[in-house]
Amino acid sequence: MNEINKLLNTESNSDLETQNLGKRFSDYIKPGNIFSLNGNLGSGKTTFMKGVLKGLNYGDEVTSPTYTLINEYRVKYNIIHIDCYREKDLQRWLNIGITDYFNGDNILFIEWAENIKILLPNYVKNISFEVRSNNKRYISYNE
Ligand SMILES: Nc1ncnc2c1ncn2[C@@H]1O[C@H](COP(=O)(O)OP(=O)(O)OP(=O)(O)O)[C@@H](O)[C@H]1O
Ligand SMILES: [Mg+2]
Repeated sequence: MNEINKLLNTESNSDLETQNLGKRFSDYIKPGNIFSLNGNLGSGKTTFMKGVLKGLNYGDEVTSPTYTLINEYRVKYNIIHIDCYREKDLQRWLNIGITDYFNGDNILFIEWAENIKILLPNYVKNISFEVRSNNKRYISYNE
């Protein structure tokens, strides 16, 4: 079991705990990585991203890309946070230029990636969020 597996296959009991997992996870990411953040509405995907960006010393507010579709953060790395929940039209994603991000310079985190699965490279890694109860989530990692 590698370090990421040890960190991420775990239960979180609060919003802050999920952010802290994201924060610690940011130590292991590198340019070219693409992560699919899987899980239902409100399962903690965006909360986890808040932690990732904290870990990269981003000081401002991190908001959901639900409406913007793509949020970019130029921190230690170029972090691209995408949300495919509202836009399922593959041609629109192509027009936006989604494939330009797959150039090895960026690190992508994609919520609702299943909506654009056919456009994604095959090396996407999965981080999944399962709601266990009000404040409890089970987080798991699959390469
Ligand atoms: N253990 C936990 N981990 C993460 N979030 C939690 C936890 N317990 C409660 N919450 C709450 O659940 C909600 C998670 O919202 P968040 O925006 O992160 O979900 P999401 O998976 O991105 O949803 P969406 O698909 O709608 O974008 C927040 O209101 C957060 O405070
Ligand atoms: Mg979200």
